[in-house]
Amino acid sequence: MQEDRYSLPQRLLHWGIAGLVALALAAGILFFVFGYDGLNTTFGGAVTNALYKYHKTAGVLVLGLMLLRIALRLSLGAPPKLESLTPQERILSTAVQHLLYLALIALPVFGWLATAAGGFPVEFFNWTLPGLIGKDKVLSEILFTLHGLAALAVMLLLGLHIAGALRHWLIKRDGVMRRMSLFG
Ligand code: HEM
Ligand code: HEM
Repeated sequence: MQEDRYSLPQRLLHWGIAGLVALALAAGILFFVFGYDGLNTTFGGAVTNALYKYHKTAGVLVLGLMLLRIALRLSLGAPPKLESLTPQERILSTAVQHLLYLALIALPVFGWLATAAGGFPVEFFNWTLPGLIGKDKVLSEILFTLHGLAALAVMLLLGLHIAGALRHWLIKRDGVMRRMSLFG
């Protein structure tokens, strides 16, 4: 690996996953605001079903790509942190990044299992993936609550992560952004 930035596969995965998480979050926020029935009456059955199908598809893709990303992180490592980082920045950025890894595995796993326990199909494009657990309405409700809480945690962590990235990029201008950038 070039010592001063993440390897190209790691940078591609970072931005690919970021895009998929943004799409899954956007659909999830619509589910939260409108609910299934609200979406049906506002947008019609076809759009509602497509939103659910592609929400699940994006989430399953995030899960698969996150596993690949963790394998690459463990085998290729990361470039050493910049000297310009204060001890507080080092601790905070590392904690937020590790919690993001954890939350982005837990979130789709909860979604998958909640869906299966609710008796709904785990859709991946036009396929239906194995549910892995049997139908159980009470368990499904608990897992959907955990899914919603994990999504909230991801939003909070992303707020900190993006604020930190923008601060380095636009205010400190210390080259942190370049480590993950696909350009220059
Ligand atoms: C859903 C969106 C995002 C997720 C899940 C995410 C997740 C992560 C994770 C887990 C890392 C740590 C990589 C590692 O050390 O293995 C990382 C690094 C990084 N991210 Fe993000 N990120 C997202 C969006 C963004 C955005 C929008 C920006 C810029 C505005 C950004 C800028 C960076 C930078 C610059 C690094 C490298 C930090 C370093 O020098 O170690 N990320 N991201
Ligand atoms: C990055 C991945 C994911 C994100 C960011 C995400 C985010 C969200 C959010 C914010 C909600 C609304 C929560 C609420 O209403 O309390 C939601 C609901 C939902 N998610 Fe996900 N999700 C992801 C992955 C998945 C996966 C993999 C599945 C299933 C295979 C799934 C299935 C569902 C379903 C069925 C709902 C609707 C729950 C309801 O209407 O009560 N999600 N998701």
